[in-house]
Amino acid sequence: MSPEADPAAVFEEGLARVSAQYRAVFAEAADEHALRAAGARFVGPQGELTRLMKLMPKVAPDRRRELGQKANAVKREVQQSLDGALLALERAQREADLSEPAIDVSLPGRGPVPGRLHPITRVTHDLLDVFGALGFDVADGPEVDLYEYNFDKLGFPPDHPATDMQDSFFVRTSDTRTLLRTHTSTIQVRAMLKHPPPLAIVSPGAVYRRDDDITHSPMFFQFEGLLVDEGVSFAHLRGVLTRFAQRMFGPDVGIRIRPSYFPFVEPGGEMDIACVFCRAWEGERARIAACRLCKGTGWLEILGCGMVHPVVFENVGYDPERYTGFAFGMGVDRVAMLKYGINDIRLLYENDVRFLGQL
Ligand code: DAH
Repeated sequence: MSPEADPAAVFEEGLARVSAQYRAVFAEAADEHALRAAGARFVGPQGELTRLMKLMPKVAPDRRRELGQKANAVKREVQQSLDGALLALERAQREADLSEPAIDVSLPGRGPVPGRLHPITRVTHDLLDVFGALGFDVADGPEVDLYEYNFDKLGFPPDHPATDMQDSFFVRTSDTRTLLRTHTSTIQVRAMLKHPPPLAIVSPGAVYRRDDDITHSPMFFQFEGLLVDEGVSFAHLRGVLTRFAQRMFGPDVGIRIRPSYFPFVEPGGEMDIACVFCRAWEGERARIAACRLCKGTGWLEILGCGMVHPVVFENVGYDPERYTGFAFGMGVDRVAMLKYGINDIRLLYENDVRFLGQL
């Protein structure tokens, strides 16, 4: 609009333009959203008619009444046309719905897929049940722990090659040496520092090592046990572990304990269970020889164990002359692999529902 144009003429032109355009614009709108947007173009708060009305004070007073009436008439027309178009659209939609093929009520529905606990969680619960029934309490500890609790207090000499068994992830937070615990044996230390004997605890938890292949995952789960009292002997250890193996793998399963070395136990051992796949205890030689899991030996390694080393007792302030105790630690993943016949540990950590759904 040029400044010298007559406002009344501009106003009239504007009305004429709106009158000429709105039908075509509404006809083009394909859905309700487009139609409402088109309506707003003419009668909305920013619409063309609203803008024209703002010119009114500049229109010569003798023409205001006439032009005001015209404007109102156009506005009514546009509004009616818009309402009509909206109604027509709604009807057309209803027609379309009614003429579509009916819903096939015989189609089976899509039920919710039930979730389930991860095998590691299930095995952890089973283990807690077994040891809970034997009177063990549950103890917990942090995943980032002191080097001192992970190694020194457990009798690992400084820079002893034994620390090589457990390549560690160190955490640099301060001058204190901290790491992602490489085993749940840290919880033994924490429990004994906190509570005087007697003590019987089990501790499930995540542990971390710099390992990654088909039988090792850099993060995995362990289950630790510790019992301290007066007069505890290796026979108690063997009894408890036998009960555990039978409850976990069946009443027939045999165990054996072989000598082995861990700095925090003396004597130390590793426990095997009779192979649950070829059912070695039934003595069928051909089946044992062909078994890929126990590689024909009839035995599967399952945990480390032993009598708590007196040095560990000294390190936590227990009297080694008065108390004895046993400890054991197992990989929960390993127990889960044996229980469910899984041959690659990584399957347990990939969270592929096609795999988890089979267990
Ligand atoms: N902490 C050992 C490991 O991670 C396992 C272990 C062995 C735990 C003997 C024990 C034990 O409590 O007595 O390899």
